[in-house]
Formats: sequence, C-alpha cells, structure tokens
Amino acid sequence: MAQTRLEGRDKVTGAARYAVEFPADDVTYGWAVPASVTRGRITRIDAAPALAVPGVLDVLHHGHAPRLAPGVDATLFLLQDPSVHYRGELIAVVVAETLEAAREGARLVRIDYDAEAHSTVLTEHHPGLYRPDKVNPGYPPDTADGDFDAGYAAAEIRVDATYRTPAYHNNPMEPHATTAQWQDGRLLVHDSNQGSSPVQATVAELFGLPTEAVRVITEHVGGGFGSKGITKAPVVLAALAARQVGRPVRLALTRQQLFGPIGYRTPTIQRVRLGADIDGRISAVCHDAISQTSTIHEFAEQTAVYTRSMYAGRHRRTTHRLVRLDVPTPFWMRAPGECPGAYALESAMDELATACGVDPVELRIRNDPAVDPEQGQPFSSRNLVACLREGARRFGWAGRDPRPGVRRDGRWLVGTGVAGSSYPARARAAAATATAAPDGTFEVRINATDIGTGARTALWQVAADALAVPGDRVTIRIGDSALPPAGVAGGSMGTASWSWAVIRACEGLRDRIPAGGTVPAEGLTVEVSTADEIRAQPARPRYAYGAHFVEVRVDVDTGEIRLNRMLGVFAAGRIVNPTTARSQFIGGMTMGVSMALHEEGLLDERYGDWVNHDFATYHISACADVERIEAYWLPEEDRELNPAGVKGIGEIGIVGSAAAVTNAVHHATGIRVRDLPVRLDKLLDRLPHADSA
Ligand code: MOS
Repeated sequence: MAQTRLEGRDKVTGAARYAVEFPADDVTYGWAVPASVTRGRITRIDAAPALAVPGVLDVLHHGHAPRLAPGVDATLFLLQDPSVHYRGELIAVVVAETLEAAREGARLVRIDYDAEAHSTVLTEHHPGLYRPDKVNPGYPPDTADGDFDAGYAAAEIRVDATYRTPAYHNNPMEPHATTAQWQDGRLLVHDSNQGSSPVQATVAELFGLPTEAVRVITEHVGGGFGSKGITKAPVVLAALAARQVGRPVRLALTRQQLFGPIGYRTPTIQRVRLGADIDGRISAVCHDAISQTSTIHEFAEQTAVYTRSMYAGRHRRTTHRLVRLDVPTPFWMRAPGECPGAYALESAMDELATACGVDPVELRIRNDPAVDPEQGQPFSSRNLVACLREGARRFGWAGRDPRPGVRRDGRWLVGTGVAGSSYPARARAAAATATAAPDGTFEVRINATDIGTGARTALWQVAADALAVPGDRVTIRIGDSALPPAGVAGGSMGTASWSWAVIRACEGLRDRIPAGGTVPAEGLTVEVSTADEIRAQPARPRYAYGAHFVEVRVDVDTGEIRLNRMLGVFAAGRIVNPTTARSQFIGGMTMGVSMALHEEGLLDERYGDWVNHDFATYHISACADVERIEAYWLPEEDRELNPAGVKGIGEIGIVGSAAAVTNAVHHATGIRVRDLPVRLDKLLDRLPHADSA
C-alpha cells in the first residue's frame, strides 16, 4: 500500500535529529586532520599553533591518543602509529569548544613527514597484480566451465572489448558523523551508519569493552549508499577524542574528507569476450576484471560475478585480479560488483547485438538461461524476459531502426539503448520483539536502520499486516543498538531480513493471544530470531531482475548529451510500499546516469589523490539532468524467499543503467565510448558535423 514516510514531517520540518544534532552536556567539537603525503611516516607534529587558538582543547594524534585493540580492522586503527598509507588519511583530531575553533586549529597543525615513493594508478600491466583468495562477499575469484578458449575460437561472431570505469565517490547528503560521550566507562554514540548493531560490536572490540558497554543510536541517516555499511572513522575518532578530553565530542567529516577516507568504488578495467552464432546465441563468455585495493586492507570487488549468472553460454570463464596501491581502501557503493560488472557485460551485449544484426532486446531474450548457467540449478524465480518485454512495450521499442547515427531532431542526434539488470535476493538473520498492550496497541522492536529508504515505514506496514490491525495501533522502534540486534541496511537485504523477523514476532504474538482474549496488564512480548530458519533455507539462485530503456540526444556540434527519457521495469518480488519503492528504483537509475555521464574521480598521480573532491568539481547528476524517468514493476510472487516475499530494491536500479545510457549514446552517434564517463570531449572529434549533414 502506498504510504508516505512515518518520519516525513519530522524530516521536512527539521525536527528529525541526525548524528551530530543530539544534545550533549558540555559538548565539544572535533575536526579531523588529513595527511598531506601519500606514503611515509610522520616525524613530528607541532600542535602549538593550534593549541594557541582560543577554545582549542587538544590536538589528538598517535603520540598520546588512547590505545585501540589492533587486529579488528586496519582501516579503523586510527591515531595509533606514525605511518601514512594514503594521502588524506585522517592522522589527527583537533578538539575545541566550538566548531570554528576546531577548524581553525586543524588548519594550523604543523606536520612533518618522511615521504616515500608511491604507486597509485591502476593499470592492466601493473607488476603488483595478483589473484585474491576470494572476492566480496566470499565468492571464488575465478570460475571456469567448459572450454572458453576453444568455444570462443570456434564462434562465428566474436566481441572482444575492454571497458574502464573510474573511481566513484559516495556522497550522501549527511556526511559520516558521530557524537560520542563516555559515562562511567560506558560509551554512548549517536552515529550515522547503515547498521548500528555491527558498529556497536566493532567499537566495543576496538576499545576493549564488553558489547553491552557500547550503545549506538542511529535514529535518522541522511543516506549511505554502502559507504556507511560498516564502522567508519568518525565514530572511532570521536570516541578517542571524547575519552581524551573527558567531554562529549561531535565530529563530522567535511565534504572533502568523504573523497577517500570513507572508501569509494574502485576503478575497474574489464575485458569482456563474447562468442556467438550468427543469430546471437552465445556459446562462449569470458569476463576478466581488474580492480584495486589498499596496502592496509584487502577489498576485492566482485566485478565479474554478474556475468556468472546473467546470460547463457556453454563455455564460460570469469577472473578477478587486484593491485595493492597507496590509496584509501575501496569500499561498497550501491551494487558493488554488480554495478560496474553489468556496465561491461551489458555494453558487450550491445556490441554483440550490433555485430550479429540482432535487436538488443531480442538478443537478451535469446540468451536467457533456463537454469543458472554456472550452478546448473533452477532460479527461485527469473523474470528478466518479462521485464524486457514490458519495458519494450511501455517504451515504444518496436520498430526501432538499428542503424546508429541516423536519427536527427534538428541539431540533435537521437538514439535509444537497453540493458538488463539483476541483483541477488538475500537475507540475513535478525532478532525482533513484538509486544501487545492491554489497550490494544502493539510495539515492534528491531535494530533496523532507515538510511532514507523508507525502511521504518515498510516495517511498520509489514507489522500491521502481520498483526492484522490498523497501522495506528502499531509503533515500530528501530535505530538503536539497545533493540534486538539486526544486520545492516545493505546488499538490498534490509527489508527482506528485518521483515522476516518482524513477521515471525507478530505471528508469535497472535498465536499467544487467545481468540477474543485479553492481554495481561503487564503486556505480552514475543521475542524471535530468524537465525535457524535462514540457516535451514536450501541454497538456490535467487535474484531480482530488471530492464532499462533510455533515449538520449547528442548535440551534433558540441557533443552535449541529454537524457530525453529513461524507463525501468523490475521484477523484485512483492513491493511493500510503492511510494518509497519507486524512489529506490529511480534513485538507482539516476545514479547510473551519473556514472555514465558525470561522475569521475580524477587522480593526480604526483600526489596520489583525487583533484576533484567537492560538488563543484565532482559532478553528480541532478534533477535537470534527467528529463523524464519512470519505474515500473511486475507482480511477482516468489514463495522461496522470505515471509514477506520481497527481493530487495535498493541496488537493482543502478545495475545496468549506465550501459543503457552508453548504448543509447552509441545508437545516437555511432560512437562507442568504453571508458566512463562519456564526456563530450570523447565524442567531439568523431561526431558528424551539422553542416555536413
Ligand atoms: Mo549497499 S552498497 O550493499 O549498502
């Protein structure tokens, strides 16, 4: 049922409080100081000029910061030693009575280094390339089935293309931010993250505390997109600083500090080879993916995993290689792996369609596998073809002239593109309680996190349904590690995982309340965990699917690209709340447009850092960049998933969407750009000029 957000009014009136907006007595402010060398050691920190600023209380650094337990996560082992692993690493915190004093102090801290030579550029010839033992979140790095080389050599039609994607930077509106306060050896933090139960556990371990001595409250979050998926620097820095000065500390990263220290989507170099017969039936598929990690922690993006299950083909191979560079550790960004991987495969599919002379929608339908092509198992449900057909119908795809570069609308070249999409449908264990009160009201408690998606509202709807009572009799409580523990809002698993526990708790409560019976004065509570039930689920390929359709126009003289319209159709199980679901779909699609046309971390090799690290220089698609965007979904019932029947919708919108845009640019211009983003300068000298037309 369509439902606006429960907290919508609070958010638009400013009543909703975010991590650094909670009151704290005698609060102070922290400002992080970044390293200005790429690799080396701090030899001296002169804090005197900073400490001379009125209101500055301390300049916290490795020399005197409280000690953390090593071994938890090297990226969180902050202010513990003088080594510098990447430019921008947060190496000191200035604590002051006011935000302004902290900022001024941070500017005045003098740091000397012994700098060392660095390597920060990913290339396919880097001598440090290696095969990781596994790729996220635990897949084998390489897979092979059949004989790719022989199958490819024997194919009538062959596509061999290499695609490149740059670093992408997550930019939630609310930066990573924390208010930390110690009370009698216990730590209370208000923190912006995607799951406060895991943050509680990590912080407790880092500070050598029992888990229950740490409480993490995450009531509202202004976006995360993966970047807040685990504990990040601010909570550690704020807790260290608060312990040091003996007062609460608020610490928010600056916009500039998001470009690196919080992670970013790794650049990729992806070679895709497709062998097919003249009708486009794929016989051989190979996807070789290269990405980067840092020197302190291995992050292995699962870039080629998408290709393992998406399209048919007897002979198959996928590989992943990594390089350890002197860079910040890459991290999750909306559909990590699937998003860059689908860009490459769905682009190669378009190239194959052109090479075979087969319509790109039809090509995908022809190569829809009956069972998972690597696992050999049937899918729990697979409605890619239905998405392609419904999308083609709504978009008006039929009768499309396949020839590139021939449609004109005045000075604009016009083209259309399509891409498939899929994302795993998974769930994690969670606990929840449901309480009935004698007055006929209910309270459901679970440490779910609403990062702006509408999760709170969806769970409230699910709870009311499961209790079979009107929503106004149900209160949902989320966003506090003191509630029953649950996993993160990530991997598009939030609603599936949390609603599972909520439904079981509510069902349990209904079973316990006798028909027409009364609830005891003290109330009645049922507590559940879904751990056993989830563990007992048979392994099975479970995915959501989608299809993107895009129309672009390209200025024939300037190469300016405009998106006329974009349409996505998804099959993602049951949609709990159409209002917020639509926002998830079109948000993901827009992020794909941004990837195709705008976003690009530009690395300066000399400094080993990105030169564009603000909204003036790192471009992100805005409303004006998308003239018409529509998302639809197919009714889909999949009883094998979870009690709510949901597949998850947070990430599928971005998967494949960049390829749909670049495929449309190719159709408009005849120019195939294989390194994102498609900037106009990459088209300019290859465009047919207006006066020659
Ligand atoms: Mo999403 S990148 O799994 O938070």
